[in-house]
Amino acid sequence: MAAATVKHALLKVAAVPFSAGRRRCLTTCVSTGELSAAVKHVSPIEASLYVHWPYCLKRCSYCNFNKYIPKGDNSSLMVDCLQRETETLLRLSQVSSITSVFFGGGTPSLAPPSAVARILDSVSRHASLPAGTEVTLEVNPTPSGRSRLEEFHRAGVNRFSIGVQSLRDEDLKLLGRDHDSRHALRTLAEARRLCPGRVSVDVMFGRPRQTPGAWRTELGELLAACDDHVSLYQLTLERGTALYGQVMGPAGELTLPEEDDTASMYTDARDLLQQGGLLQYEVSNFARRNTVSRHNMNYWKGGQYLGVGPGAHGRFAPLAEGSGVREARVQTLSPDAWTQEVQLRGHATRRRIPLSPLGLGLRCSWDGLALLDSMLPTLLLALDRFMNP
Ligand SMILES: C[S@@+](CC[C@H](N)C(=O)[O-])C[C@H]1O[C@@H](n2cnc3c(N)ncnc32)[C@H](O)[C@@H]1O
Ligand code: SF4
Repeated sequence: MAAATVKHALLKVAAVPFSAGRRRCLTTCVSTGELSAAVKHVSPIEASLYVHWPYCLKRCSYCNFNKYIPKGDNSSLMVDCLQRETETLLRLSQVSSITSVFFGGGTPSLAPPSAVARILDSVSRHASLPAGTEVTLEVNPTPSGRSRLEEFHRAGVNRFSIGVQSLRDEDLKLLGRDHDSRHALRTLAEARRLCPGRVSVDVMFGRPRQTPGAWRTELGELLAACDDHVSLYQLTLERGTALYGQVMGPAGELTLPEEDDTASMYTDARDLLQQGGLLQYEVSNFARRNTVSRHNMNYWKGGQYLGVGPGAHGRFAPLAEGSGVREARVQTLSPDAWTQEVQLRGHATRRRIPLSPLGLGLRCSWDGLALLDSMLPTLLLALDRFMNP
């Protein structure tokens, strides 16, 4: 069969609307001759899955993520709808294999652990979820009581990302966090016991009143406690947050470090992390012993991903609609409106933006291009050091 004919036939097969038996259909309905042989070589349609849990216990002073303080217990409806939207988007995209799952938020560690089990169950009923697939849960250190990490682990989570943010209690208070450094270290230790080598910590620098010297000391303490992965974020002053008012308001209660100091904090952090064996693999992420997050890497490499939950973002081609053009998709922001839409039509996609095939081609075929993008600041710094020793 000529290459063009094979391609045409495969496109037709790929456009068959999804049903629970679609993967069976690929191997049994098209079962004769060269097409069958060719179809056997069709690689699975892969994607990552991001699941957004939109609720938090309280608002941190710096945060402008899509999060809400719940008025009552909405978790049961939220889980039903997350499950439904996952199934709809799997059907729409005809994705046949999920390569990583990330429960983010908001505070997904406030969700019932059964939410994780149910969503993973939906995935494995509608696509393949190979054993050992990376399943990450963002965790806020718990101020009191029993953390439910063990239950989440039993439900299928095999990687934890802990929002430590800082090891300085006065700074945590200033940032509006409801945990202190003891809680953070305890949660981190528990996560490491459950998933050794698969725990990440989020930490922020460029905080009000922070100095480069104090940051180096703090980072040393963090390095002594952390596992093999660190996500390092420079604090961004977001309009509309309480912190923005404290820094920019007429009273000027708080000041952020000077730009040069913040730049030193970033370069110092990179150096210290590297000395600790944590190698930078994109702007914010550092990993030891090859514990790079598969989920992060899929974003950077321009892979497909489904985003479910209020305000979630996704990028995939809606093959079930007969279109192979990849789209950026944004789900409805407010949890109330989102649940209503999911109940009504199975998903709550608010915006669909077709992505240019040229841009996509570049990102997808030149695997490292997006990564190169992300490493540019680092490369420029290295070049600067080389030129100005
Ligand atoms: C969306 S938050 C959710 C994680 C979790 N709720 C928590 O707070 O630990 C993910 C990470 O983004 C980072 N982040 C949030 N707002 C930020 C800001 N304004 N500037 C820099 N980093 C920020 C924090 O480090 C946080 O851990
Ligand atoms: S930083 Fe995390 S816990 Fe704090 S408000 Fe934002 S999402 Fe919620």
